[in-house]
Amino acid sequence: MNKEQKKFYQLTVPERLAQLKDDGSLSDADLKALSGSPGLTTEQADHMIENVVGTYALPMGIAQHFLINGRDVQVPMVIEEPSVVAAASFMARLIRSGGGFSASATAPEMVGQIQILDVDDLDQAIHALEEATPELLEKAAQADPLLVKLGGGPRDITLRKIEDSPIGAFLVLHLVMDVRDAMGANAINTALERLTLLVESITGGRALLRILTNLADRRLARAECSIPAEALAFGEYSGEMVRDRIIEAWAFAAVDPYRAATHNKGIMNGVDAVVLATGNDWRAVEAGAHAYAARSGKYTSLSTWSKGDNGDLVGELEMPMAVGTVGGATRVHPAAAAVLKLMGAKTAVDLAEIIISVGLAQNLGALRALATEGIQRGHMSLHARQVAVAAGVPQERIHPIVEQMVKEGNIHVDRAMEIMEEWRTR
Ligand code: MEV
Repeated sequence: MNKEQKKFYQLTVPERLAQLKDDGSLSDADLKALSGSPGLTTEQADHMIENVVGTYALPMGIAQHFLINGRDVQVPMVIEEPSVVAAASFMARLIRSGGGFSASATAPEMVGQIQILDVDDLDQAIHALEEATPELLEKAAQADPLLVKLGGGPRDITLRKIEDSPIGAFLVLHLVMDVRDAMGANAINTALERLTLLVESITGGRALLRILTNLADRRLARAECSIPAEALAFGEYSGEMVRDRIIEAWAFAAVDPYRAATHNKGIMNGVDAVVLATGNDWRAVEAGAHAYAARSGKYTSLSTWSKGDNGDLVGELEMPMAVGTVGGATRVHPAAAAVLKLMGAKTAVDLAEIIISVGLAQNLGALRALATEGIQRGHMSLHARQVAVAAGVPQERIHPIVEQMVKEGNIHVDRAMEIMEEWRTR
């Protein structure tokens, strides 16, 4: 088989890199950054966090076949778990057969909170803050004139009365701010701190916490897909059977928090891997996802799966997506910059649309496997590879040992060592 006929996963690592270069979108420097050479240097890392002693590498794979809003996208994913990249690519190919992903994102509006304590009359304070909203917004805007010039900045102020808390009643001010292509934590937190004195003088109270909320429910990303049932058929399973079982599997997550936590974890396998590859704050995205999943008061699935009028399997995913293409590590980390370039993600909205699509693909991959042949089958050989490596099996012996362990259904470091010993003494 020559290189042209091979699928991406069949190529060697240098061949994959060469193909990315042939595709035209990456320079040699970008390719080097992607392949971790030099990657993030210790000097660069030393400017990012404190007490640096080095860097820590994780595998980066490129998910294939994504068609998002009519555009082909190669999606770099950083993750230690086997099968995730393969599942994303496979599901993207199925979803492509139904026209690909339709993705969208709201305006990049983040919300920051000020906790206002020691207020004598909460209603009167709310009234006074409402009256002063234009002044408060103006003051907040002064915190970041560049953001305002770029079309972002403070948009709104809302007020909430918390009447029942362990310390009694208090007031919460929400500042809504369009942060454009940034993740936005710095912009929001700076603006909130600027408002402190004004808020205190208007309310007569004491502003304690001033911090963004990770429940970024004004910054949502959505993806949808519609897959013809026949495209889902495989082995002994008809397409209709796979479709209906996926819907049954989803229904479990829709009603049961124990299942929903795992279901959403599968979604986050895809989401986090791209968030991480782009140097974004995956803890913020995780926090937002799970808080959003519990917004009704009961933790539930972030996605929905149903049967369309034409018999298609229809999937939808919606969740907060606080990610940026400027600021933070997105521009400092050389690989993150190359990743954004490879995906053609120019704005935070572009990036959010890609990430949410990967989350939906990953969810489909997990449900399809779980509702048919089970998850372990697909996991086995990759898991066995990791076990073989952990057992110290030399490179040239990994493949046969993996095959043997999978065949025996006994995938353990001890067994890998035993097989090596058997071969040595044969
Ligand atoms: C494993 O990393 C993710 C799954 O558990 C997700 C799911 O159960 O839906 C397979």
